[in-house]
Amino acid sequence: MSEVIRIFDTTLRDGEQTPGVSLTPEQKLELAIQLDKLGVDVIEAGFPAASEGERTAVKMIAEAGLKAEVCALARADNRDIEIAMSVEPNSLHVFFSTSDVHLQNVLKISREEALERIAESISYVKEHGFICEFSPMDATRTDLEYLKKVCIVAEEAGADRVDIPDTVGIMTPRKMHELISEIRKVVKIPISVHCHNDFGLAVANTLAGIEAGAQQAHVTINGIGERAGNAALEEVVMALNLLYGKKTNVDTRKIYAVSQMVRRLTGIQLQPHKPIVGDNAFAHESGIHVKGVVIDPSAFEPFKPELVGRIRKIVAGKHAGRHGIKTILEESGLKPTEEQLAEILRRVKELGDKGKTVTDTDVLAIAR
Ligand code: KIV
Ligand code: ZN
Repeated sequence: MSEVIRIFDTTLRDGEQTPGVSLTPEQKLELAIQLDKLGVDVIEAGFPAASEGERTAVKMIAEAGLKAEVCALARADNRDIEIAMSVEPNSLHVFFSTSDVHLQNVLKISREEALERIAESISYVKEHGFICEFSPMDATRTDLEYLKKVCIVAEEAGADRVDIPDTVGIMTPRKMHELISEIRKVVKIPISVHCHNDFGLAVANTLAGIEAGAQQAHVTINGIGERAGNAALEEVVMALNLLYGKKTNVDTRKIYAVSQMVRRLTGIQLQPHKPIVGDNAFAHESGIHVKGVVIDPSAFEPFKPELVGRIRKIVAGKHAGRHGIKTILEESGLKPTEEQLAEILRRVKELGDKGKTVTDTDVLAIAR
């Protein structure tokens, strides 16, 4: 496994393909600037052939002087490629379907014709001096021997990287590990993985691909994307850092602020228990847990919330204990006696037992 895993952020492309999400060029630029500060290696800024707004957005981002590589998506089609090149990104992400279900039923072309299209398109991009990453779309449902041939052809045509998309999210970690190991045997260029979350396995499959030798992960902030979304940047990066001992160039302390920005701009809310960035990811209510984290946070937290730009939250409710309620009161400058604390706790539990959510404001009102 290589030391620094590259993060290819596609929040502004696959993430923006989330049903109901549409960003203005100005919003995309605002987000690209924050992604750049976050430290992602590649920003896939959009799909220029899709609309005038996409072209404007990618151009604005390409001209913003960012440190990250600014990438534009294009089908393996000269017209798409010309449009993408016209907005002057650093790189093009060219894709073409390779599974039989796509080739025979949707595109109605042969495997050989597809190989020619792929080689021609990559050569065309390289003749114009752009970095080229190639994706065989629906790679994980493509016949393995044919997929290997596609990757070899892509490398020979000059592709700088080859990406293996799990377009419909049907992989398992073991299968992803095996697939990337097979692709590694036939190409020397860096391999990316692009996993969708249809079975909730996008992050696990991404990590398995990296364990097998992929050097780059395609991810989105908050895991937004087509259907059930893409692998979440925050989960992949934190797992790489803390569970796999792998570095990325992401400044993890900025993760939460960027996540909040994506939430605000896209209007896509998160489940409270979403790892890393969900409202409850560092919240504790039960008395046993609160007592533990008050004494030693590592007792019930895998890592410090500050590492991803967050703070710990102690929540009141029917599972609360003395430590939690005392902490909430002390944070507001109140120092109850033991007797008062017992009474406040009794009333908090009474509310909780009635099915009520007990906010900090409620606790303070009870205390007063
Ligand atoms: O999921 C997918 O296959 C894609 C391609 C454009 C790479 O997003
Ligand atoms: Zn995708």
